Amino acid sequence: MNQQLLDQTVGQLVAEKPSRSRVFERWGIDYCCGGKRALAEACQSRKIDTEALLNELLESDSKPESPCVDWTTQPLGELCDHIVTVHHDYLRAALPRLSALTEKVGERHGPKDPRLVELSNLFAEFRSELESHMHKEEVILFPAIKRLDSPTAPFSIDGPIRVMLMEHDSAGFDLAKMRSLTDGFAIRDGCCNTHRAMLDGLSELELDMHEHIHKENNILFPRALASESAGH
Ligand SMILES: [Fe+2]
Ligand SMILES: [Fe+2]
Repeated sequence: MNQQLLDQTVGQLVAEKPSRSRVFERWGIDYCCGGKRALAEACQSRKIDTEALLNELLESDSKPESPCVDWTTQPLGELCDHIVTVHHDYLRAALPRLSALTEKVGERHGPKDPRLVELSNLFAEFRSELESHMHKEEVILFPAIKRLDSPTAPFSIDGPIRVMLMEHDSAGFDLAKMRSLTDGFAIRDGCCNTHRAMLDGLSELELDMHEHIHKENNILFPRALASESAGH
């Protein structure tokens, strides 16, 4: 068995080769908020056939990585801008649309399936927490990370990063709850178009959030903290 892969954390594995995230998504391995766990431990806790997963990882590694930026080496300011223009802007468009869909589905089908009312309430809370979270990143944390190079950094980024990590855990918990309330975003026969659009949109949101939190938890934050403690 490939011990070298098993000893690495799942966050590091995806930071090295982003295409590995697809294998982890398929096996339900959390590589963003749970990115600090070694692969061996992640497999054990989900009772995963480690050999089969390693084979899929090696097969994925053997294919050429689609051209994408290596965020483990690019300037931190560019990574902050990338997160805002790709992931935050995606959320600014998706969250209002999904609010309207979850509300409509909750009102229309809630009497038959109360889980849809729970989903609609949960989504409203998730959206408001996430909007405030993005605001803090854009107004406080990311500008501070961009100023790490200057000798006049006004405060340590350690505290704000701790808060962001806790909020990521909470968002990850909400997304897992949404997945369970919809039986894995499963589209069943007889679902109306609004219900289908909601499930499809939530599934896309989950995927984007995994990628987004992975980039912050496993690449941006550790690199920024290392840069701060190195004094530049
Ligand atoms: Fe973010
Ligand atoms: Fe974040």
